[in-house]
Amino acid sequence: MILKEDVNNLTDEQIRELDNKYCSWGDTAHYSELPKIFSSCNGSYMYDSKDTPYLDLQMWYASCNLGYKNKRVSEAVIDQINTMPGIAPKFIYNYKALLSQKIAKGMIKRFGEKGRVHFNVGGAQAIEDAIKVLRNYTHKNRQFAFMGGYHGRTIGASCITSSYRYRESYGHFSDRAHFVPFPYCFRCHYGKKCENCNFYCVKQFAKNFESEYNSFYDRKTGDCEFGAFICEPLLGTGGYVVPPKGYFKELKKVLDEFNIVFAVDEIQMGLYRTGKLWAIEHFGVTPDLITFGKSLTNGLNPLAGLWAKEKLIAPDIFPPGRAHSTYSSNPLGTRAGYEVMSIMEEEDFETSVNEKGQLFLEGLKTLKSKYSVIGDVDGLGLALRMEITQTDGFTPNRELCDKLQEEGLKGDLTYKGKKCGLVLNNGGYYKNVITFVPSLYITKDEINMAIELLDQLFMRLER
Ligand SMILES: Cc1ncc(COP(=O)(O)O)c(C=O)c1O
Repeated sequence: MILKEDVNNLTDEQIRELDNKYCSWGDTAHYSELPKIFSSCNGSYMYDSKDTPYLDLQMWYASCNLGYKNKRVSEAVIDQINTMPGIAPKFIYNYKALLSQKIAKGMIKRFGEKGRVHFNVGGAQAIEDAIKVLRNYTHKNRQFAFMGGYHGRTIGASCITSSYRYRESYGHFSDRAHFVPFPYCFRCHYGKKCENCNFYCVKQFAKNFESEYNSFYDRKTGDCEFGAFICEPLLGTGGYVVPPKGYFKELKKVLDEFNIVFAVDEIQMGLYRTGKLWAIEHFGVTPDLITFGKSLTNGLNPLAGLWAKEKLIAPDIFPPGRAHSTYSSNPLGTRAGYEVMSIMEEEDFETSVNEKGQLFLEGLKTLKSKYSVIGDVDGLGLALRMEITQTDGFTPNRELCDKLQEEGLKGDLTYKGKKCGLVLNNGGYYKNVITFVPSLYITKDEINMAIELLDQLFMRLER
């Protein structure tokens, strides 16, 4: 038995023993044979029990865009703990209203659209609420979503998340989305080349509406079986895939023609990850609904939510009680969110993220020219990708991708003569893509460090 006073002195072996005995392995920690144990974090680094620093290039899956233990956000939350840490959702209070105002006013500035904000706890719960808002407005339960898209693991979110693996243990999903190929040009679904395909994939999508016999649309009544298209502007878990610039404008023409609501999931790519507050801003289209989460509280009390145009969410359309959760709009979360959004208004992330992203991408390109097992590198802002392949530069190489991550976690790399490690994450259809998600405050020296440490890993592992 562990005594209370022993908690801070638990060895890694004791933690592992407890985990093996008492923790469910149904989450993702035991994807790895020997999950890594960390003891603390700060800025861009995680630390193990020996205080070895690990440069983190995944930042809690994009939940800490402003770095671990961000002082301003922490202080705001501490102040909220001392003021009003909790309040039942049947009451209203200052920071819920203020954060909603900030988000909604930002939408007017960016998209010229009035709307309202609805909060919930985690990303998947925000997606559940988005599905409710969309079904409630369109009176349709079928939706389009992208192949390679990821929207969370609740049952509802799994309906619009393409990977069958996430659904296969849980029976029949009657409202499963119709999944449309994402414009993943490096591995085009249709075998086309981006330079001259003329948005072939959008044309294929549009074909579905040509005749009622294609199963989606009745030209006589003008009725479509699908109410909305829910999508990520860049694939997140799907491998940080950046669509071609004009793609969403082309897609939106089709959606508008058939009255399909356009909902964008910014849970991973929002909050300046790509150099714009909302990643969809890069593509010149206006969404009807946006979901957000993760970095909204920079890793503190979780809060996620959605913004929707007034026509979808005005009180007469989405009246009291249509959605509820005890911890939705919790004050520690809204206070953290308000501080994060304030920092994002005050600082020029648009410039800094783009500059740092370009520097990072140049480093990745140098590595690509050196190692034949790097098939593709790309990125938008500080959302960057590196596709690990066989030496043909195309065949996915998941094994090497896994090894790169394991080797980085050994903590025996060196930078400027000091011992350190590297925390990486992977994604993609074949789990062969290293997805780089550094802190937006990563310094130029840390970018050099990242490239040098990656170089060390490839030197060790490339055969
Ligand atoms: C785009 C996107 N949507 C939704 C989710 C689900 O969020 P959560 O894990 O907080 O439930 C994620 C999580 O990775 C995500 O990347």
